[in-house]
Amino acid sequence: MKLAPGPSSVWEKIKMLLSRRRDPIQFYEETFNRYGDTVYLKFGKLDFLMVRNPEGIEEVLQIDAKNYIKSVSYERFRLVFGNGLLISNGETWRKQRLLMASAFTSKSIERLHPLIIEECQEMMKNWKDDGKFDLAEEMNLITLQIISKSMLDQLTDEETKTIRQSVQEILRYLQTSYHHILMMILSIVPVKDKIAAAIKVESYLPFPKVKSFFRAIKNIDDLVHSIIEKRRKLNRNDNLLDQLIRATDDQGQGKMSNQQLRDEVVNILLAGHETTSNALAWTFHQILKYPEVYQKMKEEINQVVQGESPAYEDLSKLVYTQAVFKESMRLYPPFWRVSRRSLKDTKVNGYDVPAGTNVITAIYTIQRDERYWEHPLEFRPERFLITDPNQHRFTYLPFGGGPRICIGISLAMTEAITILASVLKNYDIEKDFDQDPTLLLSITMQPKEGCKVKLKKVQK
Ligand code: HEM
Repeated sequence: MKLAPGPSSVWEKIKMLLSRRRDPIQFYEETFNRYGDTVYLKFGKLDFLMVRNPEGIEEVLQIDAKNYIKSVSYERFRLVFGNGLLISNGETWRKQRLLMASAFTSKSIERLHPLIIEECQEMMKNWKDDGKFDLAEEMNLITLQIISKSMLDQLTDEETKTIRQSVQEILRYLQTSYHHILMMILSIVPVKDKIAAAIKVESYLPFPKVKSFFRAIKNIDDLVHSIIEKRRKLNRNDNLLDQLIRATDDQGQGKMSNQQLRDEVVNILLAGHETTSNALAWTFHQILKYPEVYQKMKEEINQVVQGESPAYEDLSKLVYTQAVFKESMRLYPPFWRVSRRSLKDTKVNGYDVPAGTNVITAIYTIQRDERYWEHPLEFRPERFLITDPNQHRFTYLPFGGGPRICIGISLAMTEAITILASVLKNYDIEKDFDQDPTLLLSITMQPKEGCKVKLKKVQK
């Protein structure tokens, strides 16, 4: 068997584990620089493969996709995501992806545009002129409002609050290490289904975060189930949930059960919120760091957008603004790595990959690799104004790649460009921080210190 290079001594592996804990980005950087684009690591019974080149990543995510499922690290999220699109596999995933696609057509997204505008206006109504704000926090709130309202339609204030609190509790908990510690302990105990055992033990842990997490799941489940019942009875077609209720497969069959609908709603609420909000927070950081980019973007927006908010048709004309958002996701991809588990023995970059290997594709690293990007650390939106036919498409992966590419790309782009254009059309932004933000790495990549700014209303 020809395995990829990697550390062999126990001491070297321990050093790597410690360095990964200290600074995951530096760990990836150093490991690739030392061993090359394909690195094999074995920790106890767990096999890992790290991949950094576009050809290798394309093999995993696209060419050989049927030989992979979501990696073991996603399993701990099953309690929250159930059998939803994000973490399901095989036939369940394939069937669901087809059903879900009908709710994400460009027509469906266009219908959501007025709601996005409404939420932008609502957000800006609360902004005092000359006030200080954390734009990361504001983006977090508005993206959650947009995704919950587009999914579930008009919600009462109480319902909105329940969703917001539950989503925050769930995300906060998923960032803790309880599960990893339990899995390490269980790896030396003869238990068959270690993940199920870890989740069971977790539910008994006497910590406040654990209690809030399980309470949040119950609250969100109760609320989503009651909304599903209500929308089924109303039999309308006003929002994404209505479309999912009606969705059928190509033979007009296969409608979703209430439990499957619940899983998909929760998947969309969580997948469609944090990602977009972080991408926007990083974009604000970048335009504040580069005043010439900010100025150029503002000029384009002032030229294209006539009223206070961009019309749907304006979005495709805001080409520079789109390039800024894409460049920001190149340097700060909200999902900074994507992983899979091999179902059977296979190969990547010519190396053998044993069945059961956890394969990590290093999105953050490849998007800053000087072999594929000129001056990779510079923020240059212009690179997205031209299409380079020689650029391998698996060098830019903020939305992933292959059959499991993000289903929400159009919604994310529509939302992001509408929000950026609305804010810059109505406000001048000044930064209220001195240093570049630090990376907060969990499932997503966030600016740890938020994005503190001063906002001044534009005088008309
Ligand atoms: C800037 C915003 C976003 C980014 C950067 C992003 C990124 C990603 C990435 C990298 C994946 C692939 C994960 C993997 O292969 O393991 C993914 C999948 C997914 N995303 Fe997004 N996403 C964004 C917005 C959204 C939105 C707005 C929605 C929903 C409305 C959404 C729903 C999903 C779902 C359901 C999947 C799973 C698809 C499948 O496995 O078939 N995302 N996203």
